Amino acid sequence: MGDRSEAPAPVAAPAAASPSTSWTLRSTKDRSIGHLDGLPNGTHHPDIPTDQIMHPQTRLTLAGQRTDDTFRSVALPIYQSAIFRFDSTDEKPAFDYSRSGNPTRAALEDTLADLEGGAGAVCVASGMAAISTVLSLYPAGAHIVCSHDCYGGTERLLTWLQSQGKLEVTYADLSDPVNLSVALRPETTAVWVETPSNPLLRIVDLKRVGSIAREANIDFIVDNTFLSPLLQRPFEFGADFVVHSTTKYLNGHSDVVGGVVVARTKEGRDRAHFAANAQGATGVPFDSWLILRGLKTLPLRMRQHEENASAVAQYLDAHDLIEEVFYPGLPSHEGHELAKRQQSGFGGMVSFRLSNEASIRQLLDTTHVFTLAESLGGVESLIEQPSTMSHASMRPEARAAAGITDQVIRLSVGVEHIDDLLADLERALDASRCLPTRTTRLGAPSHV
Ligand SMILES: Cc1ncc(COP(=O)(O)O)c(C=O)c1O
Repeated sequence: MGDRSEAPAPVAAPAAASPSTSWTLRSTKDRSIGHLDGLPNGTHHPDIPTDQIMHPQTRLTLAGQRTDDTFRSVALPIYQSAIFRFDSTDEKPAFDYSRSGNPTRAALEDTLADLEGGAGAVCVASGMAAISTVLSLYPAGAHIVCSHDCYGGTERLLTWLQSQGKLEVTYADLSDPVNLSVALRPETTAVWVETPSNPLLRIVDLKRVGSIAREANIDFIVDNTFLSPLLQRPFEFGADFVVHSTTKYLNGHSDVVGGVVVARTKEGRDRAHFAANAQGATGVPFDSWLILRGLKTLPLRMRQHEENASAVAQYLDAHDLIEEVFYPGLPSHEGHELAKRQQSGFGGMVSFRLSNEASIRQLLDTTHVFTLAESLGGVESLIEQPSTMSHASMRPEARAAAGITDQVIRLSVGVEHIDDLLADLERALDASRCLPTRTTRLGAPSHV
């Protein structure tokens, strides 16, 4: 319907570019490592001198502004329209049909491409839609090497595609990049990396994986959900695609499910856009608007997440009921030095292994400030047991290989006052200290 970019084209071939907005990207070449204080060039209205505005904090505040010349609204309007008028049969409007392009979604896409340092982006309905959009770019029989401790939903999707004969998958512990070289086959098409990994926060050396991928001539894809582009920019290390669940830090308020594929090249962006449009995966205007609004406070939120997470990790590290704490900011974490080199922050996720298995359910049922819920990256603190919740969809043998036992608890540390967070953990850990043994697995496994 009304979408001329749908003319038959092979899936892997670049499709016609979607309409560009009035604040399209300028050159993405020569971007410095931006992180919190150096994001150059931009995606803003021509009236805004973005060349002079280098800080993402300012660029995000200005993103999407001055687009409404009719009423001059300061906030970006929500273009809640499925269709757009043609003035004549000779003229194709900038947008014609919201599945293929929508001004509110385009503003978000341009902002996220700017933030990641990519050439363009396509926003889709969920993080899983972003992952599936990228995977759909590869031909039948393609071989993918994937981090062995990726998000459970990623493992479920890859395993399902493999069972249908669509893709071949090898899971490898990519915290040692030699394992990537070992897993490579002639038909390997891409390597899929999550770093820090979910939920054990292992760190993968992006530079080394990037150089192996380049030498092997395969795509390098990074799920950057855990850190956000403010703390890690995979394109600097040679990534071809970066995906996010925008449900998490980018939106930050636990009120939207969304995803994005950001591409290093314009060609990659066009292929991802073609796939998302052809499969009907693209995101809706209202959600795009909410995510863009959430993004404006991303730098503030990330600072608070990290400050709190670091204090929580130190507290847990000194606690007698805790066997092991997984937080890359702790000097004892095996990826600490690497994280310092390739990240500009350690993020807000902390996992730990309880020494007393019998305490797990009591702990999860007793916190009040930490809510028992899946997901991560929102302003509120969450606690969960990955083996029965976020990673319940993973095959048990895959969970075991990744070290995700029932004793592992994952925290998404929010932006509350740190005293309240520590008091909540202290209360719950104390309550779980002297308990009769109960089963360690939650009663109602998750469907996520
Ligand atoms: C690292 C990571 N990637 C992708 C996803 C999937 O995102 P969504 O739930 O938005 O589909 C998740 C969800 O938790 C995740 O943690």
